[in-house]
Amino acid sequence: MFVTILGRLQQYSPVSSTCTLKECQKVKKVENTDEIGQIIHRDFLDPFCESYVLVGEGETALGDNYLKFEDEVKKFEMRDSDIIVASYPKAGTTWTQEMVWLIGNDLDFKAAEEHLDKRFPHFELCTIVDFQKMKDTLGATRPEFVGNSLNYIRNQDGVRYIKTHLPYDLLPNQVLTGTKLPRIIYVMRDPKDVCVSYFHHGRLIQGWRADFENFSKVFLSEKIMFGSYWKHVLGFWEQRHKPNILIITYEDMKIDLLGVIRKVAEFLNKELPEEKIPQLLKHLSFESMKNNRAVNQQDKIESRKKHKLVPEDGAFMRSGTSQSYKGEMTEELVSKFDQWSKQYISHSSFANDPTAALYLNSAQKTTKM
Ligand code: A3P
Repeated sequence: MFVTILGRLQQYSPVSSTCTLKECQKVKKVENTDEIGQIIHRDFLDPFCESYVLVGEGETALGDNYLKFEDEVKKFEMRDSDIIVASYPKAGTTWTQEMVWLIGNDLDFKAAEEHLDKRFPHFELCTIVDFQKMKDTLGATRPEFVGNSLNYIRNQDGVRYIKTHLPYDLLPNQVLTGTKLPRIIYVMRDPKDVCVSYFHHGRLIQGWRADFENFSKVFLSEKIMFGSYWKHVLGFWEQRHKPNILIITYEDMKIDLLGVIRKVAEFLNKELPEEKIPQLLKHLSFESMKNNRAVNQQDKIESRKKHKLVPEDGAFMRSGTSQSYKGEMTEELVSKFDQWSKQYISHSSFANDPTAALYLNSAQKTTKM
C-alpha cells in the first residue's frame, strides 16, 4: 500500500524552486552517480523532497526545498532574549527542549500541557519538505508553526524558544557576527546511538525506506539530511567559550539529570523552585515523556500512518538509553564509526574532553563533567 501511494505521488509534477540562478549555483546537488547517491535517490527522496543539495561551507546535506528559504534564514532577525536548543537530529533535542522550556518558565507544568512544537517551534521546519505540495497533493494541512515556521517565530512575542538542527555556519548572520546574542544550548550524543535513533526516526516519520546497512553508509558518507555529524558537533564545540553558548550531553542527562538542570538554570539565570524539583525530574523521565502527548510526537506519527507515508510502526520515544547501538551494530560497523570519529576528534580540542573517549567506545564514563 505504502509503495502504491508513493508510486502515485511520483507522478505529481514538481513545482520549480524559487531560488535565483546565482543562489542555485552556489549549491551542489547529490547526484545519482555513486553508491551513496543511488541509495539516497532510491530510499530517501520522495515527491516532497525531490533532491538533496549540499549547502554552505560545511556542505550540509539538506532537501532542495531549503533553497527557497536560504536567504530568509540567513537574514532572520534574532533577539538577545531568544533561547535556542540546537542539536544534530536525534541527540536528545526534545528532552532538552522540555527541560529548557520548563526551567525558563519557572516549572509551569500546566502551561507545558500545550504541544511542545508550538511552545518551542522548529526554526527551519518549513524548509525540510515542501509542505505546500503536501497540502495540494494529500490535502494535509499543517499549522503555521510547521508549514511556515520562520514566520511563526518572527511574529512571536516575549521570550522565543527556538529549536534548530542547522549547523553553526548556517545559523542567521546575526548569530555568527555576534550582533545578537541569543542563548544557545547545544546537546550532543554518541554518534552511534544517534545513527541508530535516526534510522528508526527516518522510517517512522520521514518516510525513508533504507535498511540499516544502507542508512549507516549514508550517515557515514555525511550526506544524510543535516550533513556531517562531526562537522555539526565540532562547529558548535569551537564556539563553546562564548558566554551565550552552553554544551550539554545526552549521556550526562542520563547519568545526572539534576546536575544538568542546575547547569542550564544557571546559564539562563533562573532560580529553581526547589520544592518542585522532584516533579520536574518525574516529568522529564523517559516513561513520563513517552506517555505525554504534548512531547511524544504521537500526533505526527498517526498523521504519517493515516496518509501511508511511512514504512515503520513504533514510538518516537523509542529506547531512551545510552549505548543501545550495541544491540544493533556489528563490531565491524562500530569499528568503522570509531575510525571515522577519530579522524575528526584527533584534530580538535574535543579530544581532551572525557566525552571523546566515551564516544570512541574506549572508556566508560563514570565521572560527571
Ligand atoms: P532513541 O531513539 O535512542 O530512543 P530527538 O529529540 O533529538 O529527536 O531525540 C530523540 C531521542 O531522545 C530518542 O532516542 C528518544 O527516545 C530520546 N529521548 C527523548 N526523551 C527522553 C527521555 N526523557 N529520556 C531519555 N531519552 C529520551
